[in-house]
Amino acid sequence: MYKPTLVAARHFPPAVEKRIARDFHATFNDLGRPFTQAELLAAAQGADALFVSPTDKLDAYFFANLPESVKVIASFSVGYDHIDIGAATAQGVPVANTPDVLNDATADIAMLLLLGASRRASEGQARVRSGRWASEKSRELLGWDLDGKRLGILGLGRIGRAVAHRARAFGMEIHYSNHRQLPPELEEGAVFHQNADDLLGVSDVFSLHTPSTPETRQFLCRQRIELLPPEAIVVNTARGNLIVDADLIDALKAGRIAAAGLDVFDGEPDVNPGYLDLPNVFLLPHMGSATIETRTAMGMLGLDNIDAVLSKVPAPTLLQV
Ligand code: DGY
Repeated sequence: MYKPTLVAARHFPPAVEKRIARDFHATFNDLGRPFTQAELLAAAQGADALFVSPTDKLDAYFFANLPESVKVIASFSVGYDHIDIGAATAQGVPVANTPDVLNDATADIAMLLLLGASRRASEGQARVRSGRWASEKSRELLGWDLDGKRLGILGLGRIGRAVAHRARAFGMEIHYSNHRQLPPELEEGAVFHQNADDLLGVSDVFSLHTPSTPETRQFLCRQRIELLPPEAIVVNTARGNLIVDADLIDALKAGRIAAAGLDVFDGEPDVNPGYLDLPNVFLLPHMGSATIETRTAMGMLGLDNIDAVLSKVPAPTLLQV
């Protein structure tokens, strides 16, 4: 039976790899690190489809040099800032992402960051691990309540709304800023701020859920940090380059920002070393979608898109229409 050729730029959960082995002649990246662009282009020779992830940079050069055999690319992510969609379209290469299936897992991680930062989880955990119990428990490791606090969400899209849903159960008041105000059934009582800078002024906790675009990159800079209420908490599960790291690190050191919970970093997997010694940051290695159920669903959705394009039927989540 004819099987198309697939290049998988990373490994996937077992059920996804089983489907790949059943349906494709597949090459996986076994290097233990992302492919370089040259390696991915070399692997793509003769391939029908590529299954990539945000660590693969697919820019105009990539598409100009992509072998003609490649008929479709799926990205194992909802975010697609690593892909030049204009260049893909110009080359006639359909590109798919994996929206929706990761909303809940990513929102859960945002809540973990929010709680980890507000309840000083890194410091508490370091104490237990090093055998230093809090000596005077009534005054040490005091965090901040969430109940009654204002959560400012930049980007009340699918993931942002899942975070709002969870935060309401913690007694938080939801504020947001988007390009456009959402209809009441999607706002669910959240307060809209046309201007993102106004949102900052009411954000006791500020959580980023906007894609990385030329307009949003470096959004949270020194000047905007100054707009946040005193001792605000910053949470980022979106993309690292939405924050100017040096400015946030200065604000965390000065106590201007009480704490931060970060799952994504500018230049990851490298992390600005300034974060590493700070007690008031709760750090995770970009694991918003990292549950077996969610990563399996993402893999299956990517393969559904690849199958559909190769079979010339409408694909579920193509980025170009
Ligand atoms: C996404 O899907 O964009 C997540 O950030 C995983 O990379």
